[in-house]
Amino acid sequence: AVLVVDYGGQYAHLIARRLRELGVPAVVTPYTRVGGVDLSKYSAVVLSGSQRSVLEADPAVLDSARRVLGDAETPVLGVCFGHQLIARILGGVVEKGCGEYGRVMVRLVERDELFNGWGGEEYVWMSHGDCVSKPPPGSRVLAVSENGIVAALKIVLGGRVVYTVQFHPEVSHTVKGLKLLDNFARFAGVERKWVRDYYYSLTVVELEKYKGVEGPVVAAVSGGVDSTVAAALARRVLGDRVVPVLVDHGLFREGEVEEVVENLAKAGLKPLVLDEKERFLSRLEGVADCEERRRIIGEEFAKVFDQVMEEQGARVFIQGTTYPDIVESGGTGVADRIKSHHNVAGLPLWFREKYLVAEPLKHLYKDEVREVARMLGVPEYFVKRQPFPGPGLAVRVVGVFTRRKLEICRRASAVVEQVLRRHGLLDKVWQAFAVVGDDKWVGVKGDARRVGYVVIVRIVESSDAMTADYFKLPYSILDEVSREITRSIEDVTMVAYAVTTKPPSTIEPC
Ligand code: XMP
Repeated sequence: AVLVVDYGGQYAHLIARRLRELGVPAVVTPYTRVGGVDLSKYSAVVLSGSQRSVLEADPAVLDSARRVLGDAETPVLGVCFGHQLIARILGGVVEKGCGEYGRVMVRLVERDELFNGWGGEEYVWMSHGDCVSKPPPGSRVLAVSENGIVAALKIVLGGRVVYTVQFHPEVSHTVKGLKLLDNFARFAGVERKWVRDYYYSLTVVELEKYKGVEGPVVAAVSGGVDSTVAAALARRVLGDRVVPVLVDHGLFREGEVEEVVENLAKAGLKPLVLDEKERFLSRLEGVADCEERRRIIGEEFAKVFDQVMEEQGARVFIQGTTYPDIVESGGTGVADRIKSHHNVAGLPLWFREKYLVAEPLKHLYKDEVREVARMLGVPEYFVKRQPFPGPGLAVRVVGVFTRRKLEICRRASAVVEQVLRRHGLLDKVWQAFAVVGDDKWVGVKGDARRVGYVVIVRIVESSDAMTADYFKLPYSILDEVSREITRSIEDVTMVAYAVTTKPPSTIEPC
């Protein structure tokens, strides 16, 4: 397998995921744990990007890289921060103020097997503030960016080769990025495996840890593909003692709970449904800060599940946390927190301390979860469903939370979904929904002045939720969405369409 050392960049885990796409088993570990890793078990090591500067790197960062480079055999690939870190350790110079962001053209200055399949010039994705201004002695520059910045290095250390690239091969915007990773894996002689089996084995290993714990096991389900797959897997590994529980927090979409329960039954998972709408809505009312709302939801979820666990006499709790939930919540310990997904940062510590929380999907991305779902024979209804945040519509009501805004959000989202379904587009996009904030727009309805809400429609395409592009919905369909929302919701007087990519935006408004 390949070891990916995580220095905290938002894309660090994406490297592992891309390698797995190529059939290369890959494992991520934070740099703080490299000291305890047996490097001889890995056929190659990748050093990831980071949100920090190499020039301010603490000693633990430098030590982790020295340890990797000190190992005699293993081929190494440094990416972005990893590129600069290696250059610095081996005697090169890294400088500030030479950043590049976004799409940049690089030119190959020397042919090398790392760049097999690349043209002389290719577009790559850059995201760095510092750069290597003087390559380390003995290294060869393989590529240079259109801004004259060193884009790739090859360093021969004794009998082994270290490659470094300033750009991000793991990001889909780097046109030949996957090819580069494929070349690196081939160069390192890494054994390839049937990836589906590998994804599956990652999840099973996680659940087998709890085989020896007796009694019922509670699996939180929401109708999304993640929690459904986690529960289905738990059934396979831990048997009939797994009890699926669905908590209705009042933040689901129109008709969703009934539809989900019906489909879960088809998957052999008949959930215990708890109607806790009032508990959640009364606590959310009037709360403006979104992170605060996530915290409240996490806390209330924990209280409800605590009660269920007590009643069932269960010690093991299963949830469908995936890797992006953890990375965006700052849960890897090394990346910045973007949002607290309720099931990660939002799940109170006391709950994690009181029970055994199993997260079999924590190494996977959504599309990998979908692969496992297909393997398990989970109904297409779940496999095809769009991601929907655990805190539900609460993250789509911006500003002060009110029941009215929640209702508008719910109705408008239903319209967005209906119109897209009518045009066969709902299954083609990553997510499609409506958002309501506190902005108002003066309208004329029935010849009278009417001050109403602004609804923002967001439809995005993505493959892993880490980056996203807005969907280029034809104007005629946008018209339909706008007309139906303003017609069916009395106090909405304006519909807007969100046209910003992630980054810099995120997919959900808060
Ligand atoms: P963002 O908004 O960060 O979202 O670009 C990335 C993906 O995660 C979903 N999302 C959440 N899922 N709890 C969840 O379970 C949350 O708090 C949450 N916030 C965002 C979002 O729908 C998208 O698919």
